[in-house]
Amino acid sequence: MQTLPELFEKNRLWSHSVREKDPDFFKNLEAQQTPKYLWIGCSDSRVPANQITGLVPGEIFVHRNIANVVVQTDLNLLSVLQYAVDHLKVEHVIICGHYGCGGVAAAVDGNRHGLVDNWLRHITNMARRREDELSELTESERINRLCELNVEAQAQNLSRTTVIGDAWERGQSIHIHSWIYSLADGMLNSLAEPISKPLEE
Ligand code: CO
Repeated sequence: MQTLPELFEKNRLWSHSVREKDPDFFKNLEAQQTPKYLWIGCSDSRVPANQITGLVPGEIFVHRNIANVVVQTDLNLLSVLQYAVDHLKVEHVIICGHYGCGGVAAAVDGNRHGLVDNWLRHITNMARRREDELSELTESERINRLCELNVEAQAQNLSRTTVIGDAWERGQSIHIHSWIYSLADGMLNSLAEPISKPLEE
């Protein structure tokens, strides 16, 4: 029994159109993947890594979670990161947040949402630490500024992971990028210079 026939139909059309342009596309990809980039982004359905960067399958390794958070004890993220850095030898790790992030908003709205409150707790804590700056802003400006601060904080967290630290230690070139995406116009923006070496503590 085939469920969700509309998705299989879209898949059939997509596969067909790719092979029409390049008959060997899937055969070549099947042999190996050599992405240059690791994307760490939000799970939000409106922020799909491949489409917004115009990259095809095989070009970007992807990890997504609610509010693009980098937690030092998250074995899921660390496993993805280690595989990408140690085996795939990606040179660029992109932390990409987005304006209007529901996860970031949930972290500071004072309501209970379930398990995700635990996941978002350190964004809540960061907002408290930056209260002076944030309290000057309107509600939507505040969320959007927090989305930016969150990206920068996660890029710094990432630079302090053992995986990235070890890679830099052995001389591997890795650049951590802090990007934010606008749902309003589909544009990416860079928030800071890439981090390419250990931060001063
Ligand atoms: Co989000």
